[in-house]
This record gives sequence, C-alpha cells and structure tokens, in this order.
Amino acid sequence: MWAWEAFCRPEAGTLDWTRLFPSEKLTLGADDMLGVGCGSKRAKMDHENFEFFIICTPGFEDISASELARWYPSLGCKVERGGLTVMAPLATGFQLNRVLKTPTRILLRLVSFGCRDFPKLFKKISGFAWEDWLDDRSRVSFHATSSGSRLKIKTRIEETCWEARVARLRKRGRPHARFEGPKADVYVRLTDDVCHLSLDTSGEILHKRGVRVLSAEAPVRETTAAALLTWMQDLAKQEGLSNDAVELVDAMCGSGTFLIEARGLAEEIKSRRFAFEDFKVIVSPCENQIVNLSGGFSRLIGFDRDAKAFSAAEQNLREVPNVELHHADFFTAVALPDHTCRWVVANPPYDERLSIEGGLKAFYEKLLTEAVRVARPQLAGFLFPESAHPENLRLPKGWRKLALKKFSNGGIAVSAVVYSCRPKAE
Ligand SMILES: C[S@@+](CC[C@H](N)C(=O)[O-])C[C@H]1O[C@@H](n2cnc3c(N)ncnc32)[C@H](O)[C@@H]1O
Repeated sequence: MWAWEAFCRPEAGTLDWTRLFPSEKLTLGADDMLGVGCGSKRAKMDHENFEFFIICTPGFEDISASELARWYPSLGCKVERGGLTVMAPLATGFQLNRVLKTPTRILLRLVSFGCRDFPKLFKKISGFAWEDWLDDRSRVSFHATSSGSRLKIKTRIEETCWEARVARLRKRGRPHARFEGPKADVYVRLTDDVCHLSLDTSGEILHKRGVRVLSAEAPVRETTAAALLTWMQDLAKQEGLSNDAVELVDAMCGSGTFLIEARGLAEEIKSRRFAFEDFKVIVSPCENQIVNLSGGFSRLIGFDRDAKAFSAAEQNLREVPNVELHHADFFTAVALPDHTCRWVVANPPYDERLSIEGGLKAFYEKLLTEAVRVARPQLAGFLFPESAHPENLRLPKGWRKLALKKFSNGGIAVSAVVYSCRPKAE
C-alpha cells in the first residue's frame, strides 16, 4: 500500500513529476477513459448508474445476492468469485453499506483503461478528476493487485498512482495541499493489462457494525453470522417453512453475535460512519425501494456455560427486546417449552482456540442430539471445522442435511451446514 503518510514531508508536492516521465504530458481528458468518468453535474450523477462491486467472503456470493434482492428486488447483479457487480445510482450504491449485512466492503468502480507501462498509468491517474470525488486534503492510500499484466510490482504501481495524484493537485494549483482530510482508499487492480480503479465506499471493514460490543473467546464475525442466518431463511423458504415468528436458539452463544445479527438483519446500520460520507459528491437521499423484509425473529434465546461469555452476551443484548439468556451447559440444560417455529444455530468450539474434551466428532454429535432434546428445532445451522468431517456426523432421527458450504473462518477451514430437523411429512 502506498499511503499518504509516505508523502507527509514538507517537500511533498513540490517534486517535478515531469522529470520522471519526461515524454508524457500531464493533461488528459476524462473522455480518454474507458470506464465511468466522473460527471460533475449533480443532476446527471443522481440519475446515472455507477458500477459497484460488493465484496463478500468467497463462498457466500449467492447469499449476498439473495440479501441484495430482498432489499432491492429490481437491482440485478452479476455474481463473481468473491463478490457481486451491481449497477446502481450513487445514492443506492452508497446505501448498500447500511442495509447489507453479509458483505465485507463495497467498492465504487471509477474507471478502467488499458495499461502496459508506468508512464501510461501516471498519465491516466493524473488525468482523472479526483477532485470531483475527494477533498484535495484526503489521505488517499492506493492498494494495488496485479495478475497477468506487465505492471507487476505492487509498490511501484501504488507509488506511481500517488505521484500522479500529487501531479494532479499541482496542475490544479494545489501543490501544497496538506493531507489532513478524511482517509480514502483506492483499489488499483491490474488484470490482463487492464487497470481498474475503484474507490472504497465503506471505510472500516463492514463486519464492524459501530456499536461497542463486548467480545468473548473466538467470536464469529458479524458478516458470517448474518450470512448463515440469511442462508437459513432462504433454505427455509425452499423447504416451504415459514420465516415468520421464528424463535432462534444459539446453543453456545459466546458474546451473542448470532442473536445480535438476527435482530439487525432487517434494520439499517445507523451506528457508524462510512467512507462515502466524506466524499465530495453529495447525493440526493436514497429513494426507499426497500420492500417488506418479513422474517423477523420473534424471540432470541442463548446458552453459554462460560461466565465471562454469558456476561458479555448479557451486556451486548441488554437493550434488545425478547431475549432470553441462560448461563448453562447446553448439554444438561432444561428443555425449552415447545414452539412450532424454532431454529438452532451454533458456532461451537473447534478445539483450536477453545478446547474440546473427548474429540470433535463426539462433541458435535452430542450438540445435535441435545439440540433436539432442548429445543426441538425445525431447522438447524452450525459452523464446524472441516477437520471434524461434518459430512460424516451421525444425525438425529428425522434430520436431513439441506446444504453445506465450505469457507475460511478467520483462517480456519470451516463448513457451514444447515439441516432440516423434522421428517418431511411433519
Ligand atoms: C466459538 S465460541 C462461540 C462464539 C460465539 N458465536 C460468538 O460470536 O461470540 C464457543 C462458545 O461455546 C461455549 N460452550 C462450549 N461448550 C458449551 C456447552 N456445553 N454449553 C454451552 N456453551 C458451551 C463456550 O463457552 C464459548 O463461549
């Protein structure tokens, strides 16, 4: 990453960049660009569609696509490895940060151009109207990746982009701009000699929801918890099960991430700032295209045997209505009263950061058996480490595996597995 810090020296902005690439002119019209230029006319920008790339955990792309369709049914998307491409007006694209709970970051594609040498990169970047998007004082960091391209050296690509932005400032008579403004991240992706420039609209990674949450050992990421819940809702629908008035039981709730996410799935995130709020472009407030997001969880029930984890969950959920927390070992807990529509979830210990006695397979099979005794669920979803070979677990009577997804959970190879827990005819 080539960041503003590297240039916070008095001489920054006073270097003669034309000396670096003497044959290159520093001017370039926006129409020289292949991709989306930056229109300066507000009205036009309000109605124009821009390309956004919604980054999600590899393996969760279809879940994020389904989540997107719930909030914006008319917004199509192209599903790619690692994310979704969406064409949307600026206001809608920015708003996705507030409503989607499964992505990790949302990028706005600014421009694409063919590029096989550094002078060309410099020329294109210094010709781009950064001032339409970012404050001159923004602390811009460039993050480069390269595959199948002649320009390969990441640091040199990032350095060139930085130098080109400074050249742009000089050209506009702002050579001494002090980089004390908001932070901005620009992603520079070179693929097969085409350079794609994207502006990060999220800022801090999206699993950070902005509320101070007490953490217990080995918490699941908020985006992962939201993805499992969203996926379970989709699978329930496919099975003809209702998504309404579901009681959600987290058998090993730790600090309560699943329960917090269940409550927030259908709400906008209002508790944090996003990078787009510091952009120079001011967009009209987003027209609310949001359709009815039914499928609320009517009651949230959590168990944890660890006193510290239980207390963290209590704190984190103290203002959330309809919560019931049990400081108890799930394996010996008193059974809950019958409820027709109950789902069980858990991110149990993996025997890595939190240890398990008696072996993973026995522990997880006991978890499934006790889920039946304590909760009599209709649907169950778990995160198991692949080392436990979840596909070989012995299932309680009447249970069926509906789907299994492999992904990496904080560097550990994990499977998310969803089971139907009742015989089909019931
Ligand atoms: C990986 S953590 C779960 C993290 C949680 N999903 C979160 O995000 O905070 C596993 C949790 O299971 C709890 N646990 C382990 N065995 C248990 C049992 N038999 N009954 C209840 N809780 C248990 C541990 O105390 C720990 O908090």
